[in-house]
Amino acid sequence: MSQDAFRLVSPSGDETRLPVRSGTTGPDVVDISDLYRDLGVFTYDPGFVATGSCSSDITFIDGENGVLLYRGYPVEQLAAHSSFIEVAYLLLYGELPTAAALEEFDNIIRRHTMLNEGMLRFFNGFRYDAHPMAVLSAVVGSMSAYYHDTLDASDPEHRDIFAHRILAKLPTIAAAAYKLSIGQPFMYPRNDLNYCENLLHMLFAVPAEDYEIDPIAAEALDLLFILHADHEQNCSTSTVRMAGSSGANPYSAIAAGISALWGPAHGGANEAVLKMLEEIGDAKNISKFVAKAKDRDDPFRLMGFGHRVYKSFDPRAKIIREMCHKVLANLGRVDTPMFDLALELEQVALKDDYFIEKNLYPNVDFYSGIIYRALQIPTTMFTVMFALGRSVGWTAHWQEMIIDPTGKISRPRQLYTGAPQRDYVPIEERKLRERRANHSL
Ligand code: ACO
Repeated sequence: MSQDAFRLVSPSGDETRLPVRSGTTGPDVVDISDLYRDLGVFTYDPGFVATGSCSSDITFIDGENGVLLYRGYPVEQLAAHSSFIEVAYLLLYGELPTAAALEEFDNIIRRHTMLNEGMLRFFNGFRYDAHPMAVLSAVVGSMSAYYHDTLDASDPEHRDIFAHRILAKLPTIAAAAYKLSIGQPFMYPRNDLNYCENLLHMLFAVPAEDYEIDPIAAEALDLLFILHADHEQNCSTSTVRMAGSSGANPYSAIAAGISALWGPAHGGANEAVLKMLEEIGDAKNISKFVAKAKDRDDPFRLMGFGHRVYKSFDPRAKIIREMCHKVLANLGRVDTPMFDLALELEQVALKDDYFIEKNLYPNVDFYSGIIYRALQIPTTMFTVMFALGRSVGWTAHWQEMIIDPTGKISRPRQLYTGAPQRDYVPIEERKLRERRANHSL
């Protein structure tokens, strides 16, 4: 903690000193936890625009300069040289693994991919057209009913088993949700395949014939999962921390995070980008849609543009843009009209004063949806794919939150703007008043 403190004086002359805390890097924070005790006021910051909810060792973002670090390592370096499984280890355990530790971790994840057969029967209870995010959140929530034997949050081994199960079983659940939606038989996982190869197998293989895994598709998914793995206190991660702070079952906390991710302002944006591009349809319509996005009276926004934290560029978007080209080139689809339209929209928005002044740049979801589309992953599965990558961040944050000795249940305060205290009026009296009012009309 830094020695500096803010001196705050209330209008009535009461005074308090607010300590300033310094992190490893990034802006200092003003510790306001004693503010109500000293001055009898709360702070007001809807959407947590300037409020830190916790301290964390996991991820650092510098939104002004487009920096994203996982445990101190720049995401660009991890994207270029690492794998999703290694990044998962790094996020969960804080350090890069030794070769032996990585092999062991990889083996554990490969060997925990199967679901309890009872869980599989759940899928038949959903309507065939259920959104896969609804299925994912429901089935992950149900994991607490199957794995309650290892749920002592104070036991490091139990916490580890929880992490392994989330990481290993989410792709199986996601693929089962997809197979349900297209009426195909569920494909059991294959432990001889790596994380993303296995996911492709479970999504696209059928029992009737062999399925050849495209290494570029597996590489693209691995990269996307690295880029989505964590993003400090974003909406879904904060939801996981908040739900978990009550001591709730961690599987339920992850299910809550999945639900939060689904919204179009968060992980649902990659699905929304594709829907928007389909709606725009042709490059000649771009200016009309850009004008709509700029019109204050029109709720339409350019999906995949803007970010709460990144105000110069999203470093993930830069990396993913290159992968987008690679995937499309390898699939022989460089001329995909959807991709051309996206690139043209990107260029128009980047040169437009409105977007420049408001620092609205393409975010990671602008490109991820195009890659998923090229890999023939259906639009409704886009946010599910995001959830698979982000599940490791949620788990790392839950682990960090649950062992924090200063941890408290999350319980924000509010500015009450409702009716002041008033007396209850019995129903007979209200009827009488109503009759009198109608009579006087
Ligand atoms: N299109 C048009 N205008 C926009 C957009 C957009 N995509 N994003 C922000 N603006 C405008 C707002 O209307 C607002 O204008 P005003 O100052 O005239 O009121 C201004 O820019 C600031 O926007 P806020 O909503 O206040 O910014 P905030 O930080 O709260 O929101 C958010 C960030 C939610 C990402 C927003 O930019 C957005 O809705 N983008 C589209 C959805 C999207 O792509 N989400 C994915 C985020 S990345 C992720 O979750 C992985």
